[in-house]
Amino acid sequence: MSQKQVKKWVLKITLVITLIGISTLAQAASFDQWLEFEQGAAMKGLFNNISPKDGNPGAVVASPSRNNPNYYFHWVRDAALVTHVIVQLYQNTKEHSYYDMILNYISFSRSNQLTPNRSGGLGEPKFNVDGSAFNGDWGRPQNDGPALRAITLIHFAKELLSEGKEEFVRALLYDNGLPAQTVIKTDLEFVSHHWKEASFDLWEEVLGDHFYTRMVQRRALLDGAELARMLGDHGAADWYEKQGLALEESLFSFWDKNRKILVTTLNQSGGLQGKTSDLDVAVILGVLHGYRGDGFLSPTDDRVLATAATLESAFKTLYSINGQSNLGTAIGRYPEDHYDGYTTSSQGNPWVLATAALAEFYYKAGDPKKGDAFLKRLQYHSNPDGSLSEQMNRDSGFMQGAGDLTWSYASFLTALFAKEKTDEMDHTRTPQN
Ligand code: NOJ
Ligand code: NOJ
Repeated sequence: MSQKQVKKWVLKITLVITLIGISTLAQAASFDQWLEFEQGAAMKGLFNNISPKDGNPGAVVASPSRNNPNYYFHWVRDAALVTHVIVQLYQNTKEHSYYDMILNYISFSRSNQLTPNRSGGLGEPKFNVDGSAFNGDWGRPQNDGPALRAITLIHFAKELLSEGKEEFVRALLYDNGLPAQTVIKTDLEFVSHHWKEASFDLWEEVLGDHFYTRMVQRRALLDGAELARMLGDHGAADWYEKQGLALEESLFSFWDKNRKILVTTLNQSGGLQGKTSDLDVAVILGVLHGYRGDGFLSPTDDRVLATAATLESAFKTLYSINGQSNLGTAIGRYPEDHYDGYTTSSQGNPWVLATAALAEFYYKAGDPKKGDAFLKRLQYHSNPDGSLSEQMNRDSGFMQGAGDLTWSYASFLTALFAKEKTDEMDHTRTPQN
């Protein structure tokens, strides 16, 4: 071997040893240390996917991945959930950078509402990052999108009102007139007039009536009624409230009293067949994204808890990684899933956002030990640099599917926020002498 080759080998070996060192360190890191480290990684990963250089300000890419799979689009659902995290960060810190991100999201969203598209309404699932319509075939419409966008922006509008910025709210977010000229009002009009129509589910596969979609539609309308009242739009408030209450009736019909689960879809009229178990983590996500603190189908509701337990036991035996350790169960979308992150001719896997959702759910249900178990499951499979993809391979546990999935980061962060809340509550419960 020449001296040059020896040097090359020494370099290679040093690199490998360093990498092994880093990954063992990450594995050995205590849970609390990992949470802090992962929080940094998740924030970085999330911000990185907002307002991409080749897109318009306010666009949120679902993932930087442009092929196998191509997730380089602004999905209305993902973007609303991600921006809701930014609204919470703004509320806690009042930092200008967050405020600016939200303003950009408002103008991008308004342009989405005004862009003609193949859904012919507001249920268009995704847009190109320059704001133009995506014209390919897709499962459309997806009517959870406008509801989620309204929930996020109503939260922001209420925050602005508490800062005395009413004029701003009326100009950009909620105007009292019809036809609506602003983003929230436009979404509320759409949701209140179209919630009874069938649409594709959040996984973009099944056409029908969905628990998830209806839960977030209800919240959007009732949160919206509250905002409308604050702004003196009483007639609209009454109408949104009336539709919100009608949605409650319809949500009760998802309870299957024989199987003791909330089923994910009723009245399927098209799309993917074969979801015979009717079990889907979408129900838990519906509670997380749709619960408004008013006691209606809360995380401690018996029907919701029963669904979560049945869902967990289904996934526990389905994925081999769940047999290998005493960590929390890795959770997928639904048992019959065939989408492996690249194609649907394969087998489904556990998802990061589904596993994080169970963590968040149990923190909110008052069972933090169980919440921690699900986050420890994520700790075990997360990449050493903290990056998270869409899925974890059901046999090897390695990350797979779209890399740096923005929604994965958002779901880790909201689980962490829920954990921090229960930790605070623990402190206030401890008697202070
Ligand atoms: C991409 C969708 O986003 C995903 O949810 C679905 O499973 C596959 N296409 C197959 O339909
Ligand atoms: C596929 C998921 O099924 C869907 O919910 C999501 O909106 C897109 N990927 C983009 O992340």
